[in-house]
Amino acid sequence: MAPILRTEHLTHIYGKGTPFETAALNDIDYTVEKGELIGIIGHTGSGKSTFIQHLNGILKPTSGKVLLDGEDINASAESLKRARSRVGLVFQYPEYQLFEETVEKDISFGPGNMGLSEEEIKERVLEAADFVEIGESLLSKSPFELSGGQKRRAAIAGVIAMRPEVLVLDEPTAGLDPAGRKRLIGNILRYHEETGAAVIMISHSMDEIAESVRRVTALKNGSIVMDGTPREVFSQAEKLKKLGLSVPQVTKIAIYLREMGLPADTSVYTMSQAADAIASLKGGGSGA
Ligand SMILES: Nc1ncnc2c1ncn2[C@@H]1O[C@H](COP(=O)(O)OP(=O)(O)O)[C@@H](O)[C@H]1O
Ligand SMILES: [Mg+2]
Repeated sequence: MAPILRTEHLTHIYGKGTPFETAALNDIDYTVEKGELIGIIGHTGSGKSTFIQHLNGILKPTSGKVLLDGEDINASAESLKRARSRVGLVFQYPEYQLFEETVEKDISFGPGNMGLSEEEIKERVLEAADFVEIGESLLSKSPFELSGGQKRRAAIAGVIAMRPEVLVLDEPTAGLDPAGRKRLIGNILRYHEETGAAVIMISHSMDEIAESVRRVTALKNGSIVMDGTPREVFSQAEKLKKLGLSVPQVTKIAIYLREMGLPADTSVYTMSQAADAIASLKGGGSGA
């Protein structure tokens, strides 16, 4: 694999030199490979949002660098502009930033700033709307006429319409109902699969992370404290507990079964793995 994004000694201090000085990120070295699928976890205040807002230059490092294909994104106005379109950042509750008269205009805003022709913009808007299942009939509506889930998906389409090579999302499913969460995760995964873009998403839900990503990175007090495959990270239940986090529900059940004396495999973290594990338990069980 080839790296696309890299942070070197990335440090961020809010309100430096004031009585409210807060060290939010401490010396983070982190590499994202092309096409990776990453979940970022960590207790509230651990630095997740601060970290990802550096990846397209919305926040500037207090010290250290963010490199896109080896180039410092904060080196010049041009580098920053390139980074803004190649690394798409979706804020938490992005629907609060919908402001145009129509959904179509809102989704066009990002590509409209990229110097593309009207035709290309239109094509990208339709493609992005398709990724997030916003039907053409909704495009001419006001964003305010949409449901909560539709607004969220329309806002994400505005970022997808720039065809970012790295799509970064801050708690994209926060506040949605279970069906809405599942649908949105499906949309994000389809963008990842069909375009080969890297995806980095923050989530509070260990179940969501376990079911969707291939790499999990945990932050605590502005430092990376765990980084590995879901299996590597979720097999460390005690360590996660100390971070104020937990393991996915299915892992919890497996740990419980093990405590009950059953030979359960506690390294399971998805529903389908749990189903297989339970089936094999039945096969080897006492039949009582
Ligand atoms: N705009 C800000 N001004 C001052 N401190 C902030 C600001 N945003 C976040 N912080 C502080 O920086 C730390 C990391 O916050 P944040 O990146 O929002 O964490 P997370 O997203 O993991 O909850 C916390 O201590 C938080 O209080
Ligand atoms: Mg946050």
